[in-house]
Amino acid sequence: MNLTTEQLSARIAGLRAPDRSQYPELAGYTRDELYEDCFGGGGLYLAARMARALRLRPGDVVLDLGCGKGPSAIFLAKHFGVKVIAVDLWTSATFLNQKFTQRGYRDRIIPLNLDATQELPFAEDYFDAICCMNSFNFYGGSVEYLRHLLKHLKPGGPLCLGSEVLSDEFTAEQLQHPPYVYAFQLPPPNEHVDVFEGDFKKQHTPQWWRDLFEASGLLQVEHCAELDDADVIYEELVRYEHEHNLDPFDVEICLQQMDWGRTHRPHKSLYVLTGRKK
Ligand SMILES: C[S@@+](CC[C@H](N)C(=O)[O-])C[C@H]1O[C@@H](n2cnc3c(N)ncnc32)[C@H](O)[C@@H]1O
Repeated sequence: MNLTTEQLSARIAGLRAPDRSQYPELAGYTRDELYEDCFGGGGLYLAARMARALRLRPGDVVLDLGCGKGPSAIFLAKHFGVKVIAVDLWTSATFLNQKFTQRGYRDRIIPLNLDATQELPFAEDYFDAICCMNSFNFYGGSVEYLRHLLKHLKPGGPLCLGSEVLSDEFTAEQLQHPPYVYAFQLPPPNEHVDVFEGDFKKQHTPQWWRDLFEASGLLQVEHCAELDDADVIYEELVRYEHEHNLDPFDVEICLQQMDWGRTHRPHKSLYVLTGRKK
């Protein structure tokens, strides 16, 4: 992209911010708190939209699958009086335990480090709800996986995915020659990560995920929609990263994705999907 500092500042100044009045759950949160330790688009805006679709009750036991550094687990425990089992592969249980303890959630969030594709150490029909923010596409895109996971969800309980997603499936031509905005090299030490194969190719569309839920015969889809303000949420994240000098590479690639997405498909979006176990 190679923008001058002035050009970049002008670009950033034109980015929009979400209408906070549409997110009463986030009243009182600072901008830093909305993004702290969140990997992936959406921050707590996405967690708030997922929580609406989950319809939790105090005392519910919730599995936060692929919890990362725990932002959604804390959000759910804080606002809904639920107990959370927070599971992640790349984040250690020790890190999570320290964080949950420091924030006062030691008795309400249990951290576990495990691979969600392996045998899960939970009872059948154990969880009242399962939520998964910006993680399911890494491993969950098959009926076999849904069967594996849903064993542990109570009948009638919700599985809620909230995630980055694409507006369209890649065409056969794009699968052969991926658009550069989705097939780029990350800076060191992650230069060997294949972002197209490992992430974007598995993101799919809301309809693709809905079809998977329905085809499984295991879930009754209750809600499936792109966030109406997904573009604005992405813009705000880019502005935030730029203003805090957090990830200049991500700022640049996200601006490129936004520009490309104005005239090409697929473009990036965010969605929430909830299905209830039959
Ligand atoms: C993009 S991050 C999102 C983390 C967090 N949910 C958030 O929104 O900040 C994807 C997460 O999925 C987790 N993950 C990927 N594969 C996994 C697996 N097989 N089992 C458990 N977690 C997995 C990673 O450890 C990572 O933290």
